[in-house]
Amino acid sequence: MSEAVHVGSGKVRELYALDDHRLLLVASDRISTFDVVLPTEIPDKGRVLTGLSGFWFARTQAIVPNHLLALRPDGRSMECRRLEMLPIECVVRGYLSGSGWKDYRSTGGVCGHALPEGLVESAQLPEPIFTPATKVQEGHDENITREQAAGLVGQDLFDEAERVSLALYRFAAEYAADRGIVIADTKFELGLDPAGRLTLGDEALTPDSSRFWPADDYAPGGGQPSYDKQFVRDFCESAGWDKEPPAPELPAEVVDGTRARYVEAFERLTGIEFDAYLAEPGVVLA
Ligand SMILES: Nc1ncnc2c1ncn2[C@@H]1O[C@H](COP(=O)(O)OP(=O)(O)OP(=O)(O)O)[C@@H](O)[C@H]1O
Ligand SMILES: [Mg+2]
Repeated sequence: MSEAVHVGSGKVRELYALDDHRLLLVASDRISTFDVVLPTEIPDKGRVLTGLSGFWFARTQAIVPNHLLALRPDGRSMECRRLEMLPIECVVRGYLSGSGWKDYRSTGGVCGHALPEGLVESAQLPEPIFTPATKVQEGHDENITREQAAGLVGQDLFDEAERVSLALYRFAAEYAADRGIVIADTKFELGLDPAGRLTLGDEALTPDSSRFWPADDYAPGGGQPSYDKQFVRDFCESAGWDKEPPAPELPAEVVDGTRARYVEAFERLTGIEFDAYLAEPGVVLA
C-alpha cells in the first residue's frame, strides 16, 4: 500500500489517507468484548463488517448520502470520502437494553425520552428513539441529553442527524425482521462532506455497531443472547476474567463458532453467500 499514508488505528480499523479527500478504511479481524480487544482474532470478521456496511450503504442512499467510494478486492478495505465527523455518536434504540435499560430503571426514561411505566428489559419501545452519545477516546461512550448534543453540533444539524438516524434504523430494522434478526439498537457516525452535506460514514448496521438478536429466541423480561459475541462473552465469563485488560486467548472452538455466527449474520441479512462476496466484493452493491 505504498500510495497510502497510515493516519490512525481504531479498536477494529486501520485508517490510511489516499489523498486529501479520500480515506482507506481497513477492517481487521480484531474483536473486542466489554470494550477490551482480545488477543485472538476471528478470521474474516473484518470482511463481514465491510461487506455488510457496503450492502447497507448501497440501499440507503435515498435516506442519506454516504462515504463509500469503492470496495477493494480483499473484501475488508473500503475507499471512502473523507468527512469531518460530528463529535457525537448517533445511537438509535428500538428496544430497551444495555445503558438504555439501566437509565430506564433509574429514571423511568432513556436519555430524557419519557417512556411508559412497567417496561421490562429487552422490551420493544413504542417508537424508536434517538439517544446520542459523546465519543470518548478511552473506554465507554457516554450518553448525553438531546440539549447537550444540540449544543455540540448546533440545533439544525442535530435535528437532521436525528431524522436521518431514525429513518436509517427503521429501514434496516424492518429489513432485518423479515430475515429473522432483531436490530435492538445501532450506532451511526455522521459527518459533513466538503460541501457541508450531512453524510453517513464509518461502518453501518453491522454486528459491531449494533445489537443483533436472533428473532426466534427473542423473549423480553431479561437479557438476550447476542447474535455474534455470545460464545466469546460466555467463554470470558466462564474463564473468570475480570474484564480488565489483558483479555484471555480464545480456544479454537470459540473462534470457529464466532466466525460462523458473523458469516451467518452476513448471509441472512444480505441473502448473499459469503463465498460469493469473497470472490467478488462488489456483489453486495448490486
Ligand atoms: N469518512 C470518514 N472520514 C473521517 N473519519 C472517518 C470516516 N469514516 C470513519 N471514520 C473514523 O474512522 C475510525 C474508525 O475506526 P474504528 O471503528 O476502528 O475505531 P473506533 O470507532 O475508535 O473504535 P470502536 O468502533 O471500536 O469504538 C473512527 O474514528 C471513525 O470516526
Ligand atoms: Mg468504530
